[in-house]
Amino acid sequence: MHVDDAIRSRKSVRRFLPVPVSRESVAHIIEVAGRAPSGNNIQPWKVHVVAGEAQQRLSDAILGAFDSGEEHQPEYTYYPSQWFEPYRERRQRCGYGLYETLGIAREDKARRHEQMRRNFHFFDAPVALIVTLDRRLEAGSYMDAGMLIQSLMLAARGQGLHTCAQAALAWYHAIIREQLGLGDNELVLCAIALGHEDTEAPENHFITEREPLASIATFRGF
Ligand SMILES: Cc1cc2nc3c(=O)[nH]c(=O)nc-3n(C[C@H](O)[C@H](O)[C@H](O)COP(=O)(O)O)c2cc1C
Repeated sequence: MHVDDAIRSRKSVRRFLPVPVSRESVAHIIEVAGRAPSGNNIQPWKVHVVAGEAQQRLSDAILGAFDSGEEHQPEYTYYPSQWFEPYRERRQRCGYGLYETLGIAREDKARRHEQMRRNFHFFDAPVALIVTLDRRLEAGSYMDAGMLIQSLMLAARGQGLHTCAQAALAWYHAIIREQLGLGDNELVLCAIALGHEDTEAPENHFITEREPLASIATFRGF
């Protein structure tokens, strides 16, 4: 697969087939992605792989907390508390676009909640990766972790697999910590659902837009 095809064919898959993924395949993906760069090669990340009963237990515990409606907060601030342009509009377009693809009306809070809830069984993926970062490091290490996360998702494409990055799991770091026995210095960044795409599922046909080149890049000296 050409690297452009790996990048272009990656998308957030939110419904997976009940087809297992082998330990060897996951190990290969993590080994390849581990070639991601990091400042001074400090490799400040860890990846915890959960499948089968371990995944079910984790999922059940998080769903219990989600369904109870209790308040949870992530260990780091991902999003601003007040959205502003142009991000507010882009964010809305993304959310509403997904709901539209699923035939969920904007005001249908119950079905939106149900869709949010699907995060916590990893959209039925047979494998979940939990990515952690050493909390003693600085903001630069979040760049490093981002490189690992994208590399994991691209290496998955190399194995014919799909992914969905899931920051939603970061809100349940305490449960993840307890279930997986994370070290004190491990900060839960996100999960990655990993598996085979259900190509029939409408949510997997939602392709997000991107800003045109001219709004991202400026060129000088050509
Ligand atoms: C770090 C990160 C966290 C994300 N968290 C979630 C999440 O919790 N749930 C979800 O459904 N999608 C999540 N997404 C997926 C984004 O919504 C998605 O990447 C974006 O809309 C672009 O769409 P694409 O991935 O299909 O290209 C996350 C993406 C990233 C990079």
